[in-house]
This record gives sequence, structure tokens and C-alpha cells, in this order.
Amino acid sequence: MRALVLFGTRPEAIKLAPVIKELKRRGRKPQVCVTAQHREMLDQVLRLFEIRPDWDLGIMRPDQSLFQITTRGLGAIEGVLEAARPELVLVQGDTTTAFVGALAAFYRKIGVGHIEAGLRSGDKLAPFPEEMNRRLADELSDWLFAPTEKAKANLLREGFPKERIFVTGNTVIDALLWMAERLKAPAAQARLERKFAELGLDPEKRLILVTAHRRESFDRLGAICQGLRLIAENNRDVELVYPVHLNPRVQGPVRRALQGLERVHLLEPLDYEAFVWLMSRAYLILTDSGGLQEEAPSLGKPVLVMRERTERPEALAAGTAKLVGLDPQEIFQEAQRLLSDPAEYAKMARAVNPFGDGHAAERIVAILEEQLS
Ligand code: UD1
Ligand code: UDP
Repeated sequence: MRALVLFGTRPEAIKLAPVIKELKRRGRKPQVCVTAQHREMLDQVLRLFEIRPDWDLGIMRPDQSLFQITTRGLGAIEGVLEAARPELVLVQGDTTTAFVGALAAFYRKIGVGHIEAGLRSGDKLAPFPEEMNRRLADELSDWLFAPTEKAKANLLREGFPKERIFVTGNTVIDALLWMAERLKAPAAQARLERKFAELGLDPEKRLILVTAHRRESFDRLGAICQGLRLIAENNRDVELVYPVHLNPRVQGPVRRALQGLERVHLLEPLDYEAFVWLMSRAYLILTDSGGLQEEAPSLGKPVLVMRERTERPEALAAGTAKLVGLDPQEIFQEAQRLLSDPAEYAKMARAVNPFGDGHAAERIVAILEEQLS
């Protein structure tokens, strides 16, 4: 099986690292190509998981448009497919790299495996452009690796043949459990305690971990920040920690709104080890990220999802996540409820695993081996 694993951003790298590891473990020698749609945030993950790409297309530009990612990515992948001559291209998720990777492979009549297939919000514009990216990637794919039964049902409803759909769990849980195990080492704990003490975090305070970066929320970041501000101002025993995405359209408004506020720590993006450690220390998570909605339930952390809708309804159904929208008062009041009502908090703070059991990568590689020999 000559597989080329193709990705470009932080979440794809985290979710494909377990697949690359498993392919190597089985002696399959995968080739790896990164578009580098992200640079620093991708490199953090590559370093941590010791992935050395065979091709690095370096397409990131400051404040890049969707047109730039698409045309630069597609153009650059052509040469890689010519040189690598894979029989299978593996892409992950809903980024523009995932979509153009699948499209490029299709243009060369190479088989495509889509990991994390079948997620649907039902709204073409939210998340934007991810909902369309993943639908298009699904259409272009030959193997659809659905993380959950719900995702499989979405694909069946759209008419994809059942022989091409495989429920595997989400590989993010593989990565998360691997990291959680690694963090058990006392040396790692001590190192991270030191790191966060240096950053001025107070271990006596309850920690609220925040991330927000979605394109469709850019013009609502002010409202999100207003909600965060209300939480910080009204709770002296709470600290907000927000590693801010490097997108200038996120950095600008977030820093203008929150920089210098008491009990609010705006950080650079953290490497995955430090971030998982923070998640495990958090009392509560506020986010618009897809990955965090999947990781937090495994760690027993309540998640307030700052979006109008989600393509990951499994954690809502399990009761550990709640959609709170983008209204500042709503964000504040929902957080306040969890900070002040122990019974409400206990209801949400249960470890559940609707997204996987940590063996998704093994299943994916086993299926591909069976089918491709
Ligand atoms: C991308 C994905 C989104 C995913 C997110 C994860 C698309 C269209 N969007 O969105 O689905 O949820 O990644 O984070 O595929 N930047 C840096 N350094 C970095 C990364 C980004 O400086 O390491 C800045 C650059 O100015 C870049 C901008 O952020 O132009 C936006 O990056 P881009 O990949 O276009 O979009 P994201 O919002 O990161
Ligand atoms: N993450 C990280 N460092 C951070 C913020 C997030 O390692 O500072 C991890 C997080 O645990 C998750 C992934 O990055 O696995 C989510 O990435 P992001 O929010 O950029 O993308 P999304 O999930 O929204 O596509």
C-alpha cells in the first residue's frame, strides 16, 4: 500500500499523527506531504509527534484568502502526486487543504481516503467554509472513515454506498489518550506546573480555558470577548486562559478587547502537550473549535460551544456540551450557572466517549490493508 498522507493545519496534524504512527508500525512507510496552510501552529505538532514531511509546500501567507489557499495548494500538490505516485491519498477533516488534496488526487485518478467523513451541520455557511469542504471531500473519496454512527447515518442518507463507509471512531481520541498517558510522568507534570507558574497562572483559582477562531465568527469576536470579560469581572476566584489563534483577524480584536484585563491570560498558541495539560486542569471550556468539542468529553470537562450550530451533536446528546451561541449575556449566564451551581456542574462534568475509544487509527489502517493489500 503506497499511501500519501496530506495535511496542512494544526488539527489535521494532531488527528493524522496516530494514523502515520500506525502505518509506520505496520511497516507501510507512508509518504507525508504538508501544504503548510498553517506554519508555526503546524510545526508545533510536527515537532511533538516527530513527523518529518517528505514535501513541505509552504503555502501560508499572512491573512490568506480561501482563493489563495485553494489555488496555491492545488497547484503545488500536482507535482507531489507526480513524484510520489501513491495509490492512496489520505486527507482529514474539513479544511481547505483536505478539500484540495482530495480534488488533486481525483484529478489524477488516485484513490482517496477521507478521515472524519460524514459530519454535517446542515448549514452550508456554518461552519464556513468547513461544511462545504467536508461535503466535497466526501464526494471525492473512495473510503469514508466516519467517526461515529451518526456521521455514517448522514452519509447513508445522502446516498453513499454502505460498502464505502467505515465507522472507526475519531483519531483525535487516539492522540489525546496517548498524550494523557505521556503526561502522567511526574517529570512532565513538574515541567508544566513550572511553565504555567512562570506565565502567572494561579493554581488556587478555577481555570476556564477558552479558544475561538472561526471565520464565520470574525465579526462577532467582540461579542464573545464581552462575554468573557463579564465572566472575569464577576468571579474573583476564576482565571480565563485563552491561547489566541495566530490569525491576525483573531489576534487583533481579541487583544484589543481583553489585553491587560485582570484574571485574563492571553497566550500564544500552546503545543499539544501543554494544551492537553491545561484542558485536564480546566474547570470549564469555552470554545468554537471542532476538536475541543471532541476532546473535552473524554476528559470529563463541560464545554460551552460558542456557535449557533454544531456538526458534532454527539456531546450535546450526551449532556456534556451545550450550544450557547455568540451573545455576550448568554455566554456569561451559562458560564455563571456552571460556576455557581454544583449540581448543574456535576451533570455536565462526566467523562463520556462519544467520539472514540483511542483505536481509530488501528481500524483505519487495518481496513486499508485489507482492501489494498
Ligand atoms: C484553518 C481551517 C479551519 C480550521 C483551522 C484550525 C480552512 C479554510 N480553515 O482556519 O477549518 O478549523 O485552520 O486552526 O481551511 N496563521 C499564522 N500561523 C499559523 C497559522 C495561521 O500566522 O501557524 C495566520 C496567517 O496569517 C494565516 C491566517 O492565520 O493567513 C489564517 O490561516 P488559515 O489556515 O487560512 O485559516 P484558519 O482560520 O487558521
Ligand atoms: N490545540 C493546541 N494548542 C492550542 C489550542 C488548541 O494544541 O493552543 C489543539 C486542541 O487540543 C485540538 C486542536 O488543537 O486538538 C484544535 O485545533 P483548532 O482549534 O485550531 O482547530 P479546529 O478543531 O477548530 O478545527
